[in-house]
Amino acid sequence: MKDAAPQPTLLADYAPYPFTVTEVDLTFRLSPSATRVLARIGLAPNPARPGRHDLRLDGEKLALLSARVDGRPVHPVQDASGLTVAAADLPEGPFTWEAEVEIDPAANTALEGLYMSGGMFCTQCEAEGFRKITFYPDRPDVMAPFRVRIESDLPVLLSNGNPTGTGKGWAEWTDPWPKPAYLFALVAGDLVAVRDRFTTKSGREVALAIWVRRGDEDRCAYAMDSLRRSMRWDEETYGREYDLDVFNIVAVDDFNMGAMENKGLNIFNSKLVLASPETATDADFERIESVIAHEYFHNWTGNRITCRDWFQLCLKEGLTVFRDQEFTKDMRSEPVKRIEDVLVLRARQFREDMGPLAHPVRPDSYIEINNFYTATVYEKGAEVIGMLKRLVGEGGYRRALDLYFDRHDGEAATIEDWLKVFEDATGRDLTQFKRWYTDAGTPRLTVSEAWSPDANGGTYTLTFHQKTPPTPGQDRKPPRVIPIAVGLLNPNGDEVVPTTMLEMTETSQSFRFEGLASRPVPSILRGFSAPVVLDRTVPARERAFLLAHDTDPFNRWEAGRALARDTLARMVGEAAEPSPALIDGLGAVLADGGLDPAFRALCLALPSEDDLAQALHDAGRVPDPDRIHAERLRLETAIARRLEPALSAAFAAMETPGPFSPDAASAGRRSLRLACLALLTRIDGGARAARLFETAGSMTESAGALASLIAADRAGGALAAFHDRWKGNRLVIDKWFTLQPALCPPDRAAGVAERLAAHPDFDWKNPNRFRALLGGLSANHAGFHAASGAGYRFYADWLLRLDPVNPQTAARMSTAFQSWARYDADRRALVRAELDRILAAPGLSRDLTEMAGRIRGAADA
Ligand code: PHE
Ligand code: ZN
Repeated sequence: MKDAAPQPTLLADYAPYPFTVTEVDLTFRLSPSATRVLARIGLAPNPARPGRHDLRLDGEKLALLSARVDGRPVHPVQDASGLTVAAADLPEGPFTWEAEVEIDPAANTALEGLYMSGGMFCTQCEAEGFRKITFYPDRPDVMAPFRVRIESDLPVLLSNGNPTGTGKGWAEWTDPWPKPAYLFALVAGDLVAVRDRFTTKSGREVALAIWVRRGDEDRCAYAMDSLRRSMRWDEETYGREYDLDVFNIVAVDDFNMGAMENKGLNIFNSKLVLASPETATDADFERIESVIAHEYFHNWTGNRITCRDWFQLCLKEGLTVFRDQEFTKDMRSEPVKRIEDVLVLRARQFREDMGPLAHPVRPDSYIEINNFYTATVYEKGAEVIGMLKRLVGEGGYRRALDLYFDRHDGEAATIEDWLKVFEDATGRDLTQFKRWYTDAGTPRLTVSEAWSPDANGGTYTLTFHQKTPPTPGQDRKPPRVIPIAVGLLNPNGDEVVPTTMLEMTETSQSFRFEGLASRPVPSILRGFSAPVVLDRTVPARERAFLLAHDTDPFNRWEAGRALARDTLARMVGEAAEPSPALIDGLGAVLADGGLDPAFRALCLALPSEDDLAQALHDAGRVPDPDRIHAERLRLETAIARRLEPALSAAFAAMETPGPFSPDAASAGRRSLRLACLALLTRIDGGARAARLFETAGSMTESAGALASLIAADRAGGALAAFHDRWKGNRLVIDKWFTLQPALCPPDRAAGVAERLAAHPDFDWKNPNRFRALLGGLSANHAGFHAASGAGYRFYADWLLRLDPVNPQTAARMSTAFQSWARYDADRRALVRAELDRILAAPGLSRDLTEMAGRIRGAADA
């Protein structure tokens, strides 16, 4: 029997909680399978909800041992999601609720609430995990100061706030800053600390510590350095200081997400903390730096000012992603970071926005909130803030943010509050801009140009038209405000009109540039000034011209990218030959020593197979994954043949001799070196990759060489050697599990994944390991979409296996199926059958039911 269909929660139904929580006092008596939690909670009537109300507390999987109100035993009515004490049993004014519950952390495989990871106790409460720890109004607008006492024989006992007492077998923590329960955290284990100190600009001394398992201490230096730089940057850039005496970070091996910003006690997936040159790639280092910053920045954007309800999730996530992106730009290269972010946005968010899972940056309904930690909320949420900043300028942005912190510190706020500070600080009306938050879908922008010569040169007119396709539940899409950054070049490649921000507000709108000496070449949407699709048919020679001359680095890259995409689309669709304009253009970029190597590497990488499938689908064609794979390979081979001398020269020149340094310049050299290697492997059968694998001085090179060897289908020995060398290191073995299915020939991908799933190291209950293997398979576009259906079947089998153990991760991974409507009828029938099989499984979680249902739903249409 299936449970009744779960009911959606609606933004429109928001009402304040009838009580305020004045203080929270928790005692934990830790024991792996029978932990006792004693809670003492001060409550008072909330003036925002006059009248008398029942006391409703959330609680799941809790054994209630005793309950008291003001010291008197009470007998609440319990159900699967919490308990209720009737208003008649409550005093009229403030009162104290006390409860003792028992929970079983050892049996908690969902990794939400209090659970065990490698012998250590840890918590994850966002979004609704606190209700698995004790009965509580588990909603972000209920904020309170917490005091926590932990009793355990384990040597390290941590919670939020400042340490306020410790003795044999216990420790006490006090967090003076009122916070919602989702920011609660507790850690207990046999851990060691890597320590440092930080003095804030007003002179507060902060003790920093990163807690890890013994043996991992020597891989924390980069994370610590990133933390110190984040703290300084937030003071300098936003005027925001840290506000406790300690800042603790804990690395755990079993974690559903990347990391969590719990007040004063950030908990991290160990892969986002631990790094050494031998074990981490440059991409890992960059990601560690940005996630450490992200979680730290949440202290102000998320913790001091939190969300009124979960519909406002982008209030903290979009803003904090935007902040971490700016930080990375300051630490590394601005254009390179912008390109990387747009690649991710297009690969994840555009995909989501164009399919059955499309939803607004601020959704208005959800069934399971864990399913809304999406690319739309995070990445598009950050893009929307970037647009706001472009529209109001640097100064306006800073004034608005100062006002935001001033006005809302200590509050649980909304998107309306956020937009209001911009209106008040800048005098701008943001009514239309708000559609970016409420309307789903990616606008498509078409452009036409007109040139009319006159006496003193001529006038050039750009006319834009915007249209957003319908998304689930939203058919009508009124026009949005779109900031369009445009620059104009003359035919010699000189810039005649520097970057100008056009502000589009109508469905169709024209912009004129007067007094030009000759007809210009436009560079449109510079820096990717808005998250839209620019639908513009541009002749190859114009793209090649911009690839060679555009003064905006983003658009220079974009021109090459578009040229490659057009070329590939013609190769797939019309069996066209590889375009010499593209190859020569790439050759010129490769040879241009004045360009940042990281930028050159980005230019050399062709669009992914998934990108091409989307491009073909957009053009009204049905993508054939096998042909896409074959033609992309053919283009890489053609590039390698024609540019071999330059590629070999760069491969040699980009060596980074001397001791490893993770800085952006060195990482950029390695990325160009590996981009050259990937192409050269297409014509040397893997000879260079095999040599590099033998001599590699860093994980970047080692994993890069291994990737090329797998792609060249001669990795047997290297794979065995790699496994043997790294079998004690989980994070490195995760890479071994990802690279094989991701890069092997597509017709073998499902088989490779099956073989790896049977490997003794496939510890599938560990989310990193599960994601490594399944994510590797779905990254192999033609392999996942193999016509036999073997990829789909393997994937669905494992989602079904994981769901009862860890529904959150199972649901998240199901997004691999979201683009299924693009493909041919046979493939669609195969996917539909797998989705139906998932939906028919007895006891399927609410998480996966919602996701598979949404993905399945749109496919019929
Ligand atoms: N709030 C975390 C972040 O983005 C993400 C997260 C969500 C982690 C839910 C765990 C659970 O920084
Ligand atoms: Zn976040």
